[in-house]
Amino acid sequence: MTRNVPTILMCPPDFFGIEYEINPWMSRSRQSDTVLAQSQWQGLHDLLVELGVQVELMPPQKGLPDLVFTANAGLIWYDTVFLPRFRHAARQGEVEHDRAWFSSFGLHPVDPPGDWKIEGAGDALFCGETLFAGYLIRSDVRSMQWVAGEMNCRVIPLQLVHEHFYHLDTCFCPLDATTAVWFPEAFDEYGRRVIAELIPNLIAVVPEEAGRFACNAVVVGRNVVHNTGCPVFERSLREIGFTSYATPLDEFIKSGGSAKCLTLRLDGEEAAIWTRP
Ligand code: ARG
Repeated sequence: MTRNVPTILMCPPDFFGIEYEINPWMSRSRQSDTVLAQSQWQGLHDLLVELGVQVELMPPQKGLPDLVFTANAGLIWYDTVFLPRFRHAARQGEVEHDRAWFSSFGLHPVDPPGDWKIEGAGDALFCGETLFAGYLIRSDVRSMQWVAGEMNCRVIPLQLVHEHFYHLDTCFCPLDATTAVWFPEAFDEYGRRVIAELIPNLIAVVPEEAGRFACNAVVVGRNVVHNTGCPVFERSLREIGFTSYATPLDEFIKSGGSAKCLTLRLDGEEAAIWTRP
């Protein structure tokens, strides 16, 4: 899909809540506040619109509280979307809604083979021509190899070793084709080495701000949108010429998600070479 405006899929949090526990951030005894979640989601939405983004909306569904995390709805590649197959049964009901929405939007949905698990753009991010792919906690490494084969691109599988950083987009965020933000502690030694070898400009996030989901940022041109409470990160962004926008998303952190998880770039990420003409 080629469009002249950045286009992002979001899903309103009408039925968002902490109904099960599938990552260490989630606890049913620490519920999200419905009204606050709604206003934080709206804040992110409105900020993206101000930055020139065209926001598309997936209709929310009762009983699917994590449908708000559209980053997991698929991995976009031109007019194709590689659908997810979720690790946990609690999220598997989302896939049919994802499929229906993408089809009505004119994208071609493709299922992963067998019972291989894959969780969309949550675990697969392009930096330049290379697909960086998180595996083990949610996605299977073979799904990532399959997806890269379909796209005929180089894939670098990265084992995620820290339970709190269970999706790649919680600990790694490409800003442009040669720059990324990361939380090194979320990777094993090999992962740290290969990221350092392949990406010339890296910004490491401090542990406290990694816990505020600094890496879970949305990039629109030279603008970076992320959760509040990340002053060191904001300074690093300014130093390399990006403009940072903090917007509160604490209600979603109770579910293990923040800005990036709540969005899916439909026209391809800024850092992906294939989106450029
Ligand atoms: N509660 C959701 C889960 O555990 C959060 C998903 C966050 N999404 C993301 N792309 N990191 O699956």
